[in-house]
Amino acid sequence: MCGIVGYLGKNSALPVLIDGLRRLEYRGYDSAGVALYLENDIQCVKAVGKIKELEEKIGYYEIKSPQPLFTKEGNYKKSPQPPFNKGGSCLGIAHTRWATHGEPSEDNAHPHSDCSGKIWIAHNGIIENHKALKEKLEEKGHKFKSQTDTEVIAHLIEDIYNNELEKLKSPQPLFNKEGNNRKSPQPPFTKGGNNNREGLLTDSLIKALKMLKGAYGIVLIHKDYPDKIIAAKMGSPLAIGLGDTETIIASDISAIITHTKQVIYLDDGEIAEIDKNDLRIFNIDNVKIEKEIEEVNWDIGEAEKKGFPYFMLKEIFEQPESIMNSIRGRVMEREGKVKLGGFDSVSKKLRDINRIIITACGTAMHAGLVGEYMLEEYAGIPTEVEYASEFRYRQPIINKETALLAISQSGETADTLAAIREAKEKNALTLGIVNVVGSSIAREIDAGAYNHIGPEISVASTKAFTSQVAIMALITVYLGRQRQMSLVVGERIIKELLLIPEKIKNILGRNDEIKKIAQKYMNADNFFYLGRKYNNPTALEGALKLKELSYIHAEGIPSGEMKHGSIALIDGNFPSMFICPKDSVYEKNISNMEEIKSRGGRVIAIATEGDERVKEIADDVIYIPKTLEMLTPILATVPLQLFAYHVSALKGLDVDKPRNLAKSVTVE
Ligand code: F6R
Repeated sequence: MCGIVGYLGKNSALPVLIDGLRRLEYRGYDSAGVALYLENDIQCVKAVGKIKELEEKIGYYEIKSPQPLFTKEGNYKKSPQPPFNKGGSCLGIAHTRWATHGEPSEDNAHPHSDCSGKIWIAHNGIIENHKALKEKLEEKGHKFKSQTDTEVIAHLIEDIYNNELEKLKSPQPLFNKEGNNRKSPQPPFTKGGNNNREGLLTDSLIKALKMLKGAYGIVLIHKDYPDKIIAAKMGSPLAIGLGDTETIIASDISAIITHTKQVIYLDDGEIAEIDKNDLRIFNIDNVKIEKEIEEVNWDIGEAEKKGFPYFMLKEIFEQPESIMNSIRGRVMEREGKVKLGGFDSVSKKLRDINRIIITACGTAMHAGLVGEYMLEEYAGIPTEVEYASEFRYRQPIINKETALLAISQSGETADTLAAIREAKEKNALTLGIVNVVGSSIAREIDAGAYNHIGPEISVASTKAFTSQVAIMALITVYLGRQRQMSLVVGERIIKELLLIPEKIKNILGRNDEIKKIAQKYMNADNFFYLGRKYNNPTALEGALKLKELSYIHAEGIPSGEMKHGSIALIDGNFPSMFICPKDSVYEKNISNMEEIKSRGGRVIAIATEGDERVKEIADDVIYIPKTLEMLTPILATVPLQLFAYHVSALKGLDVDKPRNLAKSVTVE
């Protein structure tokens, strides 16, 4: 996930772009860059780190006094450093990066350009076929400067543009010897009026987009088109703000609404060509699209959270998209196989491992516990899960057939890092599931898979958990298919996994219902969370969410374990949350639920849609769609996240920053 901003207007572009980047910084902050049209050329400055590093490099700073940022002459009060010391520019693009391909570095920072330095692009998304395209372009002599997938777009457009320009420069006779028309050009050059230099850039972009696979939000400028900015969207968000004298394109409206509240949201497959006096939106076949201009009624504070009152709620609602981002490009449905680029270098070693130790902390460890069930049941690999904070203090039995799999959203958790180092000392192969690219854990492990879910801002982890479980399922298929797993089983898991995002949407539609249940139980002092097999970890995760957000004591225990002591606590003021989908342990869970009810306890059940039996026993039921048993923790966790969120919000607590906690725990 990255943030992009583009500006074309009558005012100076730089302040709008920098302000936009600051507002989009939540989308990533490992490097940033800005490219401006200045003195018949495009000048670009990039810096590693947060936006303030870029500002310092440019010499840009905010004047706190109410003075105008620019003097009447359009110069900065204090001159920025070269190359931006040349006075105002009215056209530019900027980007704040959240690395996916290539480490955080200046070379990999956006905007990226082609060989000639004429085309400049800022991109959010992942171009899945960038390697193949890059190889072809390199064969043709294109020189790449970065390791990113994005740069290929600039070179591809350059290649197409130059070819078409050549054709325009040396026009063929319109009629062949026979006096017949030559063969008509293929689309998009068939549309008349575009068959000139003016339409060439857009047409080249369209041709290039047709060759891309993956997701993109793109803004593009070209040195020879000082009055034009083009944007294209497929899978990554883009909005266009329409001011009286300016147009601003951005990944989200937080970068726009301080300038204008008139916005057009681009949809997938749409391209916007913005000239000084015109805005044209069309599809990939160059067919014009009429779009509605929407009036935004948020203020800027809300916009950063996309209208959600808290980042946590926004991140819960992002899960259909974030899970898809974790799966996208990694599954081969018909072959029942998974490809994990990060595991390629160790794939042979992975065939030989006969034991996996998963290590992590908190929520990430709960994802690991789900993984333990998956790996043992479907890949046939003995697996155990260890608190990272405990791992070093045992004498873990490790040999070269053991792999240690660390799971961490931040990639900076000190205990997890220490466990990895300990395992490396003992010659274990170290693997990881990490969200933050370039983080310490990502650098330390031998091989790994990134979550690709963008920054998780709320301290309580939500979208990271569901993505971690989804990636555990991918790893299970990957390792399983190296062993005994059949094509049919691999295919089945992948098929069900691909349906998960839509099923989460269904659960999110029950938000109001869950809020009402939260209202009913918010004054309890204690809670049990109970589940079996795959949903034993779900119970632990639900309890953790409730206690960290609402400060209500909540205990997650296996449903079967309850009768060995804990049931003594049950009375009318001690409710239990039962995770009870229709799975292989359903009947046993039902019995445990009855045991609680017969002792006067109140029960909320998470059950499979259409299950009337649970409704008869439990006081309240939250339904989730049916899925494969191993994937139920992903679905069952979503209502538990919402429940904890609502209890906390209803109590008036700071949902995003619960007391005593921090987002990444870098101390042991
Ligand atoms: C709970 C939570 C924590 C983290 C844990 C590990 O909501 O967020 O339990 O899961 O601190 O953090 P990472 O995944 O960054 O290693």
